[in-house]
Amino acid sequence: MKYILNNLITFKKTVNFKEIALCKIMTYNNICTINHLFVDKKYRNLNYGSELLKIVENHCIHNNIELINVTVHEDSLSNTRFFYFKNGYLINYKIDSKIHLTNCDDEYTLINMYKKLI
Ligand SMILES: CC(C)(COP(=O)(O)OP(=O)(O)OC[C@H]1O[C@@H](n2cnc3c(N)ncnc32)[C@H](O)[C@@H]1OP(=O)(O)O)[C@@H](O)C(=O)NCCC(=O)NCCS
Repeated sequence: MKYILNNLITFKKTVNFKEIALCKIMTYNNICTINHLFVDKKYRNLNYGSELLKIVENHCIHNNIELINVTVHEDSLSNTRFFYFKNGYLINYKIDSKIHLTNCDDEYTLINMYKKLI
C-alpha cells in the first residue's frame, strides 16, 4: 500500500485583520484528520468555528478527500462533540483511557468522530 503523508495545512479566519480562529489538518490516503480547531474565546458561539470547518470541508471535497475525522475529549464542561454533531459528524469509536503516573492517576474518554464527504 502506498502511504502518502502530505498537506499539513493551517486554515485561519480573520475578522477586521485580526486572526480569531485556526484549523490545522493533515491528509493521509484521502482521509483528513483535524489536529486542532480553535476559536479565540471572545469570538465563540458566533458560528466562526462552523464557518472555518466548512472551508476545510470544501477544501477536502476539491481535493477528493473522502472522509474527515477528529478526536475530541469527552468533557463535562466543554462538550465539543456537540459542536461536531451540529456540523454533521458521527461517532466512530470511543476510547476509555486510564493514566497511571507515580503521583497522578487520571481517566478520560476520547471520542473519534467522522464525516463522509463523498
Ligand atoms: C469548539 C469550538 C471550535 C467551537 O467554535 P465556535 O465558533 O464557538 O462554534 P459555533 O459558534 O460554530 O457553534 C456551532 C454550534 O455548536 C455549539 N457548540 C460550540 N461549541 C460547543 C461546545 N464546546 N459544547 C457544546 N456545544 C458547542 C454551539 O452552541 C452552536 O450550536 P447552535 O447552532 O445550536 O447555536 C470552540 O469552542 C473552541 O475553540 N474550543 C476550544 C478548542 C476545542 O475544544 N477544539 C475542538 C477540538 S479539535
